[in-house]
Amino acid sequence: MKNTAVTFKNAKQKGEKLSMLTAYDYTTASLVDSAGINAILVGDSLGMVMLGYEDTLSVTMEDMIHHSKAVARGVKNTLVVTDMPFMSYQTSVYDAVINAGRLMKEGRAGAVKLEGGAEFAEHISAIVKASIPVMGHIGLTPQSVNAFGGFKVQGKTNEAAQKLIDDAEALEKAGVFAIVVECVPAELGKAITEAVNVPVIGIGAGKYCDGQVLVYQDMLAMYDKMKPKFVKAYANIGEQMIEAFKAYDSEVKSGAFPTDEHSF
Ligand code: KIV
Repeated sequence: MKNTAVTFKNAKQKGEKLSMLTAYDYTTASLVDSAGINAILVGDSLGMVMLGYEDTLSVTMEDMIHHSKAVARGVKNTLVVTDMPFMSYQTSVYDAVINAGRLMKEGRAGAVKLEGGAEFAEHISAIVKASIPVMGHIGLTPQSVNAFGGFKVQGKTNEAAQKLIDDAEALEKAGVFAIVVECVPAELGKAITEAVNVPVIGIGAGKYCDGQVLVYQDMLAMYDKMKPKFVKAYANIGEQMIEAFKAYDSEVKSGAFPTDEHSF
């Protein structure tokens, strides 16, 4: 079945959990789609795992459109959600609508995601009024890494926890169809999930969320610059790739590849 912003909203009413993974290219997107994952996030994490930056701040609209288009060509049933990069929506409501529109028109996204709470409610409702589905993102919002002083667990004091619950409610009121909650204590993940009627997709937010999202290079152990506690490695593809590259290198150098089987 085709996943859309509407099926996402309905899933929560039916008590069905939702799966989401990042992908940034055609081949990976088609594999994720074949696995039946509900949504692909073309995350601005691509700045780190695809482009090698130390954070997500340098990612541009052009980067996001380029990768979003490739992912969109790879999927049949999976919903494509594309991140709005740093400074593509923070500057004004007008910029937010124009840039969300570009991610849909040029990037062929099915929805956009943006980071931030109540302070972006006006931006979100303007985008939603333009018929563009919006996913919110609160908790550890990586575009604010400098303001947070690092990649740290959020919502640890009662006051900070209450602010995140208030933010989730403000996002729901502004019209989001789902909310990513990143790096908060599991009990706060539960409280946020219970506070809103739209699905809450957790990443390091515990087991009570309505769904989960992971960066695919993390869950396949392909990216070793950062290893957050919330990541589970489902396969050791990084190591398998190195072994395969080494075998190829050695066969090329010894002359064992190619044989007649791989020749015309
Ligand atoms: O950019 C991204 O991959 C994200 C996830 C970490 C939720 O925003």
